[in-house]
Amino acid sequence: MSLTAMGKNGLQVESVALSDIAARFGTPCYVYSRAALGAAYAAYRDTLLAHGMLDRSLICYAVKANSNLAILNLFARLGAGFDIVSGGELARVLAAGGKADRIVFSGVGKSRAEMRSALEAGIHCFNVESASELDQLSEVAGSVGRRAPVSLRVNPDVDAKTHPYISTGLKSAKFGVAFGAAFDLYVRAASLPHVALKGIDCHIGSQLLDPAPAAEAADKVLALVDRLAAAGILLEHIDLGGGMGIQYRGDEPAPAASDYLAPMLAKLAGRREKLVFEPGRSLVGNAGLLLTRVEVLKPGEEKHFAVVDAAMNDLMRPALYDAWHDIVKVMPEPGDKGNATAMTYEVVGPVCESGDFLGHDRELALNEGDLLAILSAGAYGMAMASNYNSRPRAAEVMIDGASMHLIRRREEISQLFALESILP
Ligand code: LLP
Repeated sequence: MSLTAMGKNGLQVESVALSDIAARFGTPCYVYSRAALGAAYAAYRDTLLAHGMLDRSLICYAVKANSNLAILNLFARLGAGFDIVSGGELARVLAAGGKADRIVFSGVGKSRAEMRSALEAGIHCFNVESASELDQLSEVAGSVGRRAPVSLRVNPDVDAKTHPYISTGLKSAKFGVAFGAAFDLYVRAASLPHVALKGIDCHIGSQLLDPAPAAEAADKVLALVDRLAAAGILLEHIDLGGGMGIQYRGDEPAPAASDYLAPMLAKLAGRREKLVFEPGRSLVGNAGLLLTRVEVLKPGEEKHFAVVDAAMNDLMRPALYDAWHDIVKVMPEPGDKGNATAMTYEVVGPVCESGDFLGHDRELALNEGDLLAILSAGAYGMAMASNYNSRPRAAEVMIDGASMHLIRRREEISQLFALESILP
């Protein structure tokens, strides 16, 4: 399902024209579709159902991809669990109505305070990434009189073939327990009084378009699970992380959830363990866009610039990963004037950095004041936004049929320095 469709007032999301959203809430503005979020979740659920695995699976939405309360709440209503990486994400999930016993806690550096609050909330499992973390967690659990539910996140040393910044499953990565050391660490964990061994976890990277590396990682994990069982350590669940990629470019399709997951699920068929997945991007990425307005057109000798009111602080992915997001005009004809000719533009923001671009070499017919939609921005867009250049973060709006709901107000400038003080 494509997020936008052309209506009589230009591009729309569900039944709402993007120009109406801009008129009401201003730009830059993130726009999400409730139907698209639901459809992305259903693609996972239906695939698990088709493989007869739904009733023993937990889909834990990776909160880091987009942590807006309204989005978390929608997934909670659909029955999702959550994959968190901080005490902040724990608080958000609980505030949004997520159930603590459906939360898995990932991350290489959990603080003792975070461990304590997660234990007190009663989360499903900690995905432990090192021997030291295991000891610290056991100690904290002892101090609050609980046993910590634990999975070890193992690093299967599989090349996920994605951008190096979002590839996590190689030996050289900071993530997970080295595969060769995992068995011995399980044996040690089994002897700790304040640890309850629950499962095993792995996550090899993000924006994976080829299902083979994930299936290869599953193979390695299953071999370890069987070896542990033979030694008397029985695990209840297998968590295969997130990572399924999405389509960012019109001309580069991504596999459907059913095709991506099938090779992995084939390996899990007939087993007794429960399954956990941690999808982030694939649940929200193509359910959101960033709406922005052209401020200034600046023809140059070598390049023509379209300076828009969104910038790298709103959507960091192009600057950080050289990531591609399709950029389309909201109105079918160039602006109101109808006289623009198509040119190749650098679509850039107002931030004072040459790295502040949203798209290179885009063929667009533009007038100043035109609205543009930067597509596939639902994941790692607002979640990674900053206030760089003292820019208030964008508003967020959720479309549900013909209704628009403001799910995050635009930040006010006074909020940007409200926590600061000057010397007496
Ligand atoms: N589980 C763990 C332990 C993770 O580290 C991640 C993502 C996920 C699940 C969810 O992965 P997904 O299904 O979204 O691929 N900021 C980058 C992506 C960073 C991903 C970090 N970890 C980007 O904008 O591409």
